[in-house]
Amino acid sequence: MDALALLTADHNRVRGLFARFNKAKESDDTALLGELAAEIINELQVHTSIEETQFYPWVKDISEETKDTVTEGVEEHHVVKTLIAEIQALEPGNDKWIAKMTVLIENVDHHAEEEEEELFPKVRSNTSATDREALGERLEQEKQRLGAPVLADKIDLTLTELKDLASTQEIPGRSTMDHEELAATVAPPTG
Ligand SMILES: [Fe+2]
Ligand SMILES: [Fe+2]
Repeated sequence: MDALALLTADHNRVRGLFARFNKAKESDDTALLGELAAEIINELQVHTSIEETQFYPWVKDISEETKDTVTEGVEEHHVVKTLIAEIQALEPGNDKWIAKMTVLIENVDHHAEEEEEELFPKVRSNTSATDREALGERLEQEKQRLGAPVLADKIDLTLTELKDLASTQEIPGRSTMDHEELAATVAPPTG
């Protein structure tokens, strides 16, 4: 699968977790907040890692502009990692923990939007589909190495199963996704 589609799928999966976290915040469900935060942190650690080791080095030489966006991106990841370390040192559910999770979510939302709107279009117009597919393959291998689910783990689910998962996981844009996009985006069924 195209590397940009895979990275966008990661973004949308984590956006679904953010939506669920914000809802759980309103209902004061500490156990659920803790579970969702753990999932969010795990997703972000894998995603920032594959971007920094595979994607950013691959795109940074496309132009001066992409180089600047990537340099900024690495710093934004650094803020995310710092916040994660601080969050992990606090008691899940307390006021400070919730405030830091909220700032983390706002930061990542902004960062992902910037990647999708400023970086990805430039990458798309300056690279070949074949090269992006090859990079996508490397991203998947790296994810597997990090113990994260990949597209191949979910591609055999039926469209109904995928749609149900996307709905439960509150994946944004799910109504217009095809089978492959849904499979790339959802987290595998649990249990
Ligand atoms: Fe990023
Ligand atoms: Fe990203």
